[in-house]
Amino acid sequence: MSIRDVRVPESLITALQNAQSVAGLTGSGVSAESGVPTFREAQTGLWTRFDPEQLATPEAFARDPHLVWEWYAWRRKHIDKAAPNRGHEALAELERRVPSFALVTQNVDGLHWHAGSRNVIELHGNIGRSKCSREGVIVEPRQDDTGVPPLCPHCGAFLRPDVVWFGEALPVDALAEAFEAARGCDLFLSAGTSGLVQPAASLPIEALRSGAVIVEVNPDETPLTRYASYVLRGRAGEMLPGLVNAAYG
Ligand code: APR
Repeated sequence: MSIRDVRVPESLITALQNAQSVAGLTGSGVSAESGVPTFREAQTGLWTRFDPEQLATPEAFARDPHLVWEWYAWRRKHIDKAAPNRGHEALAELERRVPSFALVTQNVDGLHWHAGSRNVIELHGNIGRSKCSREGVIVEPRQDDTGVPPLCPHCGAFLRPDVVWFGEALPVDALAEAFEAARGCDLFLSAGTSGLVQPAASLPIEALRSGAVIVEVNPDETPLTRYASYVLRGRAGEMLPGLVNAAYG
């Protein structure tokens, strides 16, 4: 579908053009068109026999750090080949157009940053970064460390991916920033998320409570659909550039 075929209501165009503050929330659906499998689709090849929720936990890492590190290295290889799609680029364009724009993402693939978004709040971390499993500080392995996992150059503990695992708390600062953005925006744009995982799923509801216009971009219905003022029923790679094109030409 051409972006000119995307039907955007006039009132939504006006709401976006007049918005002083916009908050976005994205999930794995916005990276689908970049070829990044969603968290649960990722299990192919030798990883098919593993349940991702059994790998992405502190207990799994304590039990078998080698296996968990290998899984993330395999996922990183996939993600390193992915490029941002027109949905990521449209969100980066929105950030340039709107006086205040905050992009909250549940994705760990870093594609928003590569597309040019700068005010990105990573609720679940970033698979491209490593941190010390003991100190929690972001640190990269030494070049000559071929260990699996590599060791922290400061304290010698295993390094781990800088992502939030099941059962772990989300980064406190990121969460606070995300809720502040949701409560302070005129328009909240939820794209590519099933809206099933808390606390991210509460962000659009907080925005609604604060009087924001809610827009959902998703090919499918979600629990958020009933609260949305506007639903662009389709893929982010088409709907988001279509929205930006309708509002800014
Ligand atoms: N454009 C927009 N949305 C899409 C597209 C697309 N091209 N393709 C799929 N979707 C939608 C699906 O309809 C679904 O609603 O994206 C959503 C993906 O939902 P999930 O796979 O549940 O991903 P997400 O919402 O990001 O999950 C949240 O749960 O799996 C954990 O930690 C993981 O961050 C993840 C969190």
